[in-house]
Amino acid sequence: MRDITGCVAMISGANRGIGAAVAEALHADGWALSLGARDMAALETSAASYRTDGDGGAAVTLHRHEATDPEAAERWTAETISAHGRIDCLVNNAGVAHPDEFEELTEDTLDEMWEVNAKGPFRMLRATLDHLRHSGEGRIVNVISMSGKRVRGTFAPGYAMSKHAAMALHHSVRHLTFPDGIRCTAVCPGYVQTDMTSGFGVDPSIMIQADDLAQALATILRLPNTASVAELLVSTEPETIA
Ligand SMILES: NC(=O)c1ccc[n+]([C@@H]2O[C@H](COP(=O)([O-])OP(=O)(O)OC[C@H]3O[C@@H](n4cnc5c(N)ncnc54)[C@H](OP(=O)(O)O)[C@@H]3O)[C@@H](O)[C@H]2O)c1
Repeated sequence: MRDITGCVAMISGANRGIGAAVAEALHADGWALSLGARDMAALETSAASYRTDGDGGAAVTLHRHEATDPEAAERWTAETISAHGRIDCLVNNAGVAHPDEFEELTEDTLDEMWEVNAKGPFRMLRATLDHLRHSGEGRIVNVISMSGKRVRGTFAPGYAMSKHAAMALHHSVRHLTFPDGIRCTAVCPGYVQTDMTSGFGVDPSIMIQADDLAQALATILRLPNTASVAELLVSTEPETIA
């Protein structure tokens, strides 16, 4: 396992759900954090339990990030460099899911999922890649979904379209940056018990817990360059692919 002391991770959508759990797990591992969210008050609240000034823990900074704003990625990246001086890891986590079936899916809904789930990570990668290349041990995590790996009957075709696009971006950037020592992991969970799945009509007791996912990811981020995990498939039920 490598030493991540002094390393800085940016995490989008860090105010709740999977993003908040990943932030807490990485902070416990010693990462300094640059956390992005739309709602700064919610981010302050979610980070309050582990963000204590002057306790010897790594620095945690909070930044406003609206994924549909084309300038937001460059702005947050510049703020992170100004505050921390380096970026070692990017966690593209912010995402939106509309479970509409084909007949109900509107272009506006489709456009929102494309903007947040596919173009959001694209813009973040464009903005941060040069910084991630610096150490020769940069890390990229794209939180995608099983819906980026397979299509589940008629369920949520627009979400699956956006997440398949995100998966294409993931593998393209993984190949591009491998020679620079950057290792990219696509996290592909099935149902995780967060706000996103609360209206899906699925029994919460069978769902993945965000904290468990975060622990798995924290472990992957401690692996050296010689142990690359391109995809982490985490399922809560038997899948054809995992
Ligand atoms: N839950 C699941 O079963 C599941 C399964 C597979 C993959 N995923 C993926 O995991 C990621 C996190 O999902 P989650 O389950 O933690 O969902 P969640 O609890 O609904 O949280 C979504 C996060 O994304 C942020 N976000 C949404 N739209 C945004 C925008 N336009 N700009 C910036 N941030 C935005 C939200 O910010 P606000 O609080 O401001 O809305 C929130 O922080 C997503 O990419 C999701 O697709 C989830």
